Amino acid sequence: MLTANYNYQETLAASVKANWRIEDIIGGDKRLDFTKPFMPESLARVESLDFLSAEEKILLNQIRGFGYLYTFGVVEEFILPFVLDHVRPHLNEDDFRTRALLQFASEEAKHIQLFRKFAEEFKAGFVTNCETIGPPEEIGKAVLSHSPLGVALVILGIEWMTQQHYLESVRDDEDLDPQFKSLLRHHWVEEAQHTKLDTLMVQALTDNLGAGEFEKGISDYVAIGGLIDGGIPPQVEFDIKSLQRAAGRNFSRSEQEQLRAVQQQALRWTYLGSAMTHPKFLETVGEISPAARTQIGEMSATFS
Ligand SMILES: [Fe+2]
Ligand SMILES: [Fe+2]
Repeated sequence: MLTANYNYQETLAASVKANWRIEDIIGGDKRLDFTKPFMPESLARVESLDFLSAEEKILLNQIRGFGYLYTFGVVEEFILPFVLDHVRPHLNEDDFRTRALLQFASEEAKHIQLFRKFAEEFKAGFVTNCETIGPPEEIGKAVLSHSPLGVALVILGIEWMTQQHYLESVRDDEDLDPQFKSLLRHHWVEEAQHTKLDTLMVQALTDNLGAGEFEKGISDYVAIGGLIDGGIPPQVEFDIKSLQRAAGRNFSRSEQEQLRAVQQQALRWTYLGSAMTHPKFLETVGEISPAARTQIGEMSATFS
């Protein structure tokens, strides 16, 4: 039995208070500034690539920004049906539960739309097109083929990770493009309630499970992590090609190897390590299974 001290009524109230409209944060004079970086260096990791000029470092940083929004779009496309499936069997039991989870789903649908709008603006303003792995529906289908507990743990980790990225890397970074930063801030503020609802979802899913099913949930969590990790090398290859087109030059073999090594690890930290090491995520996992907490803690060393 998990002991998280969250409840649906308070989460719903906080969520309604934080709610914003897409048209208030994008469009009109609210435009991306392509002279500035979009991502904090702790996630982008472009500075050590000393064969890149200052302008090329900004291009790579912005390519990573585009990938970041794309990745959240992909993730939210499987969070949305997962939350709807979770709420539906118990619609009449607790009005606050139903409303809080539907609000959660509605916010994710809004975030998907927001990220699409940003992607459109990015595509219109960036010097070249940037390819991405996918399609998102296929990735979502592969993730959702795992047990609900495994998927819920992945979602829990991802949403705590969003908190970590904003609070520790984005909020106090004065160099970032203000518009991109505004996007991350608005996303973060609504995600703050999602982490609590995720914890309640994991709690509900673990309440009636047998011992073998806990282990299945944990092994599915690890399997989905492997799926995400498998997408990183092909995405980095796309990013290298995008950067070469944007910079108008080809990098030597050894430069490409350096780019590959640094960027693969940057993506591993961004999408896996920073989720797996979040103290609140580990706290919830530890309450299900101290052994799983240790296992995930050890695995996370690979993704630092
Ligand atoms: Fe979101
Ligand atoms: Fe979310």
